[in-house]
Amino acid sequence: MKIHIFDKNYNKNNIAIETILFLIKKYKTPFWLYCAENIKKKILQLKNFDIIRFAQKSCSNINILKLMKYEGVKVDAISLGEIERALIAGYNPKNIDDIVFTSDIFDKQTLKRIIELNITVNIGSIDMLHQLGNISKGHNIWLRINPGFGNGHNKRTNTGGENSKHGIWYADLKKSIYFIKKYNLNLIGIHMHIGSGVNYKHLQKVCDSMLEYVLQPYMPKINMISAGGGLSIPYKKNDIEVNTNHYFKLWNNTRNIITNIFKKNIKLEIEPGRFLVAESGVLICQVCAIKNIKNKRFVIVDAGFNDFIRPVMYGSYHYISAISYLGKDMSNYPKINTVIAGPLCESGDIFTQLDNGEISYFKLPLVVRGDYLIFHDTGAYGASMSSNYNSRPLIPEILLENNIPKIIRRRQKIQELINLELF
Ligand code: LLP
Repeated sequence: MKIHIFDKNYNKNNIAIETILFLIKKYKTPFWLYCAENIKKKILQLKNFDIIRFAQKSCSNINILKLMKYEGVKVDAISLGEIERALIAGYNPKNIDDIVFTSDIFDKQTLKRIIELNITVNIGSIDMLHQLGNISKGHNIWLRINPGFGNGHNKRTNTGGENSKHGIWYADLKKSIYFIKKYNLNLIGIHMHIGSGVNYKHLQKVCDSMLEYVLQPYMPKINMISAGGGLSIPYKKNDIEVNTNHYFKLWNNTRNIITNIFKKNIKLEIEPGRFLVAESGVLICQVCAIKNIKNKRFVIVDAGFNDFIRPVMYGSYHYISAISYLGKDMSNYPKINTVIAGPLCESGDIFTQLDNGEISYFKLPLVVRGDYLIFHDTGAYGASMSSNYNSRPLIPEILLENNIPKIIRRRQKIQELINLELF
């Protein structure tokens, strides 16, 4: 097959336009498309870390998890559903590192399953220590610490500081250790997820905090530290790429100091979601209607915020390219300020908006009804955040490996939705 890149101005996945057209014909729009080679490339960039743990909330398809497992990546689970997905993908809780359950709470069902399978838990509240400690002596745990400051691409995704519900507040660390000893729990590591992106000063602050808490006199000598996730990706053309060597260097220094003081080998773990999968995925949809309202041009497509919520929830920017209904790459066509909207019966179903809900534009090629739009860098927090709002079924996910497409989630049937309510 001739490789013809679908947008000369923007190509991270090397997907041939012919492949996209073939898939559109076979599966109809809208659908998600992932590129396996791209995920593997990202994994390689983090190979210096002892353990790469995939935050599956970013893209929890079992087939993506299988790929991760095959490539030696471990997995994080944050719900019973994610535990079951990890098990089906072949992760084995008998290996202490395979699955780590990270949460701030236990519900009864999840706790039961965790104890049954002896799954390692990353504890985010003192209440969890009581719940687990009372019934599972010696259970392997991590502690997730909120060091009192945080970072995030949006205030809704900030994972540390006084407004975050996540983790054990740093001032409660001593108390937590008291309960860990009381319940005879086995503390194997300290975890901090305070995404720093490309802000290395901030990252150094996180590393310093890790050091401070791990070296407190009341702390047991743990075996591992986790840098959490939060590595950014360049969504916009001028966004800086994260320097993974520098990221590793800062954490490695921290680990080495602990290794020297504890006189034992300390493993260094990282827990990205977005970094591994965002750039491997695209969302492909079709233009269904065009409206000119006063001086605004609205292009309405067949995917809505039930499918892809990031732009609506955070004002997130995603590059958008177009393919004409005749199968031509439109990247060199004249471009025009365009509002891009979905089909939902809700005014906010607009993909081009700012964080405060204000409408913005994308300079889109001059498309007509029937043309196709491609939302880029949607592999993370795309399909995994979809819903059935407006009674719309979940859309297919397709994985390309060696240019061979494999359907990894079929389109949900409307009848399947309805059946949930028929007894
Ligand atoms: N580890 C923990 C404990 C986390 O809470 C998260 C993300 C990650 C790792 C992975 O973070 P990442 O490397 O993907 O940034 N829906 C939002 C992102 C929410 C992230 C929640 N926690 C978005 O679409 O940007």
